[in-house]
Amino acid sequence: MRRSMQLTVRRPVLVTSLGVAALLAAVPAATAASPSAPEQGRGQEHASAPSVPADSLRALASDVGLHIGTAVNAEQLAQNPRYREIVADQFSTVTPENAMKWEALEPRRGEYDWAQADQLVEFAQENDQLVRGHTLVWHNQLPAWLNEAAPDMTPEELRAVLRQHIFDVVRHFRGDIWQWDVVNEAVDDNGELRDSIWLQKLGPGYIADAFRWAHQADPKALLFYNDYNVAYTGAKSERIYQLVKELQAQGVPIHGVGFQTHLSTQYGFPQLRENLQRFADLGLYVAETEVDVRTEVQEGTNTPTSNAGALAQDAEYSQSLQACLQVRRCISYTVWGIGDHLSWVPGTFPGTGAATIYDEDLQPKSSYDVLQQDLELASGAPVRPGRWGHWGRWL
Ligand code: G3I
Repeated sequence: MRRSMQLTVRRPVLVTSLGVAALLAAVPAATAASPSAPEQGRGQEHASAPSVPADSLRALASDVGLHIGTAVNAEQLAQNPRYREIVADQFSTVTPENAMKWEALEPRRGEYDWAQADQLVEFAQENDQLVRGHTLVWHNQLPAWLNEAAPDMTPEELRAVLRQHIFDVVRHFRGDIWQWDVVNEAVDDNGELRDSIWLQKLGPGYIADAFRWAHQADPKALLFYNDYNVAYTGAKSERIYQLVKELQAQGVPIHGVGFQTHLSTQYGFPQLRENLQRFADLGLYVAETEVDVRTEVQEGTNTPTSNAGALAQDAEYSQSLQACLQVRRCISYTVWGIGDHLSWVPGTFPGTGAATIYDEDLQPKSSYDVLQQDLELASGAPVRPGRWGHWGRWL
């Protein structure tokens, strides 16, 4: 694997990879034994997977008990050998970018299409990887039939539809999913519960219901609340913190909070480590679930407009990984896709891009090297809670 010159080009004001070992050495050793912690971490031991390169992200991460993942594009996985090779070699967990969303699984009412999602689960099993299920309850990417029918449904009807969906999907994948994003983005940017069809018709109790149903359908899956901008301390993060505490007080089976971590070099780096830690201190697992770093690009390309932008991307990837490494209960770090041309970013934020760690030719970028280097320097750091064992076993 290529080595890089990253240490020589980092901006001096930012924490560099060389700081990782020192920072990690300062992590207190007590948190893993927290009495309020959920049972144990679960997972697989990946370093022994026969074909994984020793300097791959997944091999390096396994030394500190961290799972490193990517969102997976189903079409690429089916058609592109180079893409498959990267996913298999570099990552120990996979998240379907779209294939487990409601519109993909149930395009017509009562007719499920499991094909793409099943292919990913099969791929993961073949390659000794864990799966993050994404996502059961969201306001986006609902099937057209549901968007059309929901406004005319009674609350009882809609509640029954949601319950059925969760039971159907979670039961279908029962035993195959490590972490489920049960509820996605239920809090808006002002710190209010999002004004979705779910809130309008079912009231705030739909969130607790969703977790309870998912737990009944697969009692071993780790159940996550997942959202963006959780790391920027402010109204939204506070509301999520309050929501999670309320759920815990009600005995709702919630095991983790997913920090999406869609970053931009145009904004300041968030209070990521601090926020990961305060949610972890509630006895929850935390995870960075959708990491990417966008920057300003030349029109119609994924070429950053400035070298400073590209350097800032490397720095933010590094800082985001370091934040997870410094929080013992941060059990996985997932990048949101492979290949700048396949990223959701240019379509959603025109004028920005180059957001992933692989370029348009699926070659690793300097941001890949930064992650690799940080993982390498982190070996010897405190490992994640629990003992990693084979999938399905509680240790
Ligand atoms: O379903 C159609 C398909 O029929 C058609 O062939 C294809 C042609 O372009 O478009 C398909 O829909 C696209 C869908 O992805 C599936 O590929 C949509 O246009 C496109 O908007 C959609 O984008 C996804 C986006 O979620 C939708 O909100 C992105 O790929 C996906 O990366 C993104 O992921 C979300 C997370 O789930 C939650 N957090 C934010 C994150 C980024 O938006």
